[in-house]
Amino acid sequence: MAMEIVPVRPDFVARVGGVDLVSATHGEVFARLRRALDDHCVLIFSGQPMNDRQQLAFSRWWGPMEPTKGVNPASGTPFARQSNLDVETGEIIAPDDRRMAYQRGNYRWHADSTFKRVPSLCSILTAREVPPEGGNTEFASTRAAHEALPDDLAAVIEDLIVEHDFSVSRGRVGFQFTPEEAAHYPPAWHPLVQTNPVTGRKSLLIGAHASRIVGWPVDRGEALLEDLLERATPTAAIYSHRWVKGDVVIWDNRSVLHRATAYDSARYRRLMQRTTISSPDSVNSDSYARIHALREAATAKQSGGVTR
Ligand code: OGA
Ligand code: MN
Repeated sequence: MAMEIVPVRPDFVARVGGVDLVSATHGEVFARLRRALDDHCVLIFSGQPMNDRQQLAFSRWWGPMEPTKGVNPASGTPFARQSNLDVETGEIIAPDDRRMAYQRGNYRWHADSTFKRVPSLCSILTAREVPPEGGNTEFASTRAAHEALPDDLAAVIEDLIVEHDFSVSRGRVGFQFTPEEAAHYPPAWHPLVQTNPVTGRKSLLIGAHASRIVGWPVDRGEALLEDLLERATPTAAIYSHRWVKGDVVIWDNRSVLHRATAYDSARYRRLMQRTTISSPDSVNSDSYARIHALREAATAKQSGGVTR
């Protein structure tokens, strides 16, 4: 079987065929898949049903997996579960249940785990149970958005640092963490402009968790982030994935935004299992060195240290 990578759009998203992800070996296929992620940012595979064990084995190819903490129903496991089904009983959860309110945070454009100090390389989502209508996942490219920026705006944002804060993003959709839950998620700082180390192409780390620009008044930072988000997500630039059971989709969290769309969750069952790959090497890059220094200075100042 020869693996085939076919672009869906000229600027991002590709379909990958001619490979069986469960029986293929790392040595045969991984280098091409990894490069395809850098080039196309979203990879779609059809007819690749996986159970949890198979998904974990495939996910390990990509790097260290993030454990799921806090409020996700799969907390304590390597999976984030996007589902209206009770973990224990498999029954449909009532739409007004707190667990469903939490998941509706996914309706806003975001990249996964940007609120963590170590950002994510990519997410792998497998479709286990799919509603007959609705429940698409939409994708938009922040690499294309960066490429289309006017030069003066690109210059203004080049060295900015963006704070991502999970409590703020869930708060904006009316979901309040308890103090105990919030303690899992201290805000994280990242370069607003990310550079892919393989392709050299730039993208924007924005989306729902982006709460402010470090060193800017909050409202000015929010206005900039809102402007960048609008530039990245015009309707014509969106790829909407209609899920079929057995689909596997991998997306690059450094260069695409995604969001869930509604479905009749009181009526239809939906179960998607996500593994999230961490990118520990990225925080050793030059652009993060400045962030570490600034954060240390800020912490020293807060604790009364001398910062001259
Ligand atoms: C995710 C996510 C969207 C969806 O798994 O990270 O945002 O449609 N999912 O379930
Ligand atoms: Mn997500």
